[in-house]
Amino acid sequence: SRRRLFGYAGAAGLGGVAGVVAGRASAANGEAPVAQDVVGRTHSPYGEQQAGIFTPKTMTGELVAFDLAPDTDRAALGRLLRAWTGDIVALMTGRPPAGDFAPDMAQAAVSLTVLVGFGPRVFELEGLAGRRPAGFQDIPPMAHDRLQDRWSGGDLLAWVSADDATSVAHAVRRLSTDAAPFASVRWRQRGFWRPLDQTGAPVTGRNLFGQVDGSANPTGDLLRETVLSTDDWLAGGTQLVVRRIEMNLDTWDEATRSRQEASVGRDLPEGAPLSGGVEHDDVDLAATVDGSPVIALDAHARVSHPSQNSGRRMLRRGLNYTAEEWTDAGLVETSGLIFSAFQANIADQFIPVQRSLDQLDALNEWTTAIGSAVFAIPPGFSEGGWIGEGLLA
Ligand code: HEM
Repeated sequence: SRRRLFGYAGAAGLGGVAGVVAGRASAANGEAPVAQDVVGRTHSPYGEQQAGIFTPKTMTGELVAFDLAPDTDRAALGRLLRAWTGDIVALMTGRPPAGDFAPDMAQAAVSLTVLVGFGPRVFELEGLAGRRPAGFQDIPPMAHDRLQDRWSGGDLLAWVSADDATSVAHAVRRLSTDAAPFASVRWRQRGFWRPLDQTGAPVTGRNLFGQVDGSANPTGDLLRETVLSTDDWLAGGTQLVVRRIEMNLDTWDEATRSRQEASVGRDLPEGAPLSGGVEHDDVDLAATVDGSPVIALDAHARVSHPSQNSGRRMLRRGLNYTAEEWTDAGLVETSGLIFSAFQANIADQFIPVQRSLDQLDALNEWTTAIGSAVFAIPPGFSEGGWIGEGLLA
C-alpha cells in the first residue's frame, strides 16, 4: 500500500513544509492525523493487464487521442507501438526513454501509468478488418448529447496517469513526439482527482458536484468478469468508453441539498445510500416510506443499477476537469467529468445503460455529454513483449 511519511525528511524533500506545521498543530489538538507527505508508487509496466485500469486512481491524468496519418499502415502502427512500449517501460520505472530531450525529468514513485488503446478506424486498416472485437463500436447518438468533434473520436489513445502533473506533461510530450511520424494529436483532455483523505488513506473521491463518485464499482471476481474481454487477441484486455460530460455547477448550486441527494439516491457527506447504510453498501431500491420509493424512480443510482439493466456493469474511473475558453461572450468557464468506463463489451454493457440514463436520469438536468470516444485496450505485456503485439505482429 501507499507509503506514508510522517517525518520531516519526507516533507522537506517534497516541499510540504506547510503540511509539517499543520500536522504538528492538529496532533497537539488531538485531532485526526494529517499526512505531511505521501510518496507515490512505482508500478510495474509488466502484467496481464496494462497498468492504469486496476491500479489506484491518481491525482492527475491526461488522455491524448491521435489520428493515424494516411500512410500509417499495420506495420507502421506496430513500429509505433514498439517504440511506445519502450517509452512506457522507461517512464514508469523512472528512467529516461531512449532519445529523451529532457532525461532529468524521469522520476519513479509518482504512480505513473500509461494506458494505450485503439480506436475503431484501426480495424479498417488492411489486414485488420476481421479483427474488430465483438461489441466494440461508437456510442450511438443520445437525445441529451451535444457532441463536439474536438472532443470526440480518435484512432489511438494514450492515457497518462500520475500523482504529479509535471511527470504527466513530460510523458505526454515524449509519447506525442514519438508518435509524430505516424499520427497527429486529435484531442487532449486533462483532469484531476483526489483519491486520498487528509491522512493519506485511499478514498473514493468526489466529482465537482461534490458527490462521492465510484462507490458502487464492482470489486474482486465480479470486477474482472465485468471488465476483461475473452475475445481473440483482446483476451485479458478491455473496451473503454470516454465521455466528456459538462456539469452545470451554477444550476446545481441552486438546487436544494435534498434535491441534489435525491437525484442520485446517495447522500452528499459520505455517499451512503438514502435507503440506509454506509458508503459501499448497495442502494435498496425496494425501500419505501409512506408508500413512495426512498430511492426516486429517476435517481441516477437506480436507473444505472445492475438490477435495472439485466445485470450489466462497468468499472468507472472518471477525472474532474475545469476549462476556460474565449467566446464571443468573453471568457467562459466550464466544469465537468472526463467520464470513463471499462467493460468487456461496449454494445452489451455500456450502451444499454447509457440509453436508460438518457431517458430517465434525474442528473440529465445538469449534465451534457460534449465528447465521446471508444478504444479497444489490448492486454498487458511481459518483458520483451510490446503493447498490441497480439493484434499487430
Ligand atoms: C453511480 C455520478 C455519469 C453509470 C454514480 C454515483 C454518482 C454518479 C454520484 C453514485 C456513487 C457511485 O456508485 O459511484 C455521475 C455523474 C455523471 C455520471 C456526475 C455525469 C457527469 C454516468 C454515466 C454512466 C454512469 C454516463 C453510464 C452510462 C453509473 C453506474 C453507477 C453510477 C453504473 C453505479 C450504480 C450502482 O450500482 O449503484 N454516478 N455519473 N454514470 N453511475 Fe454515474
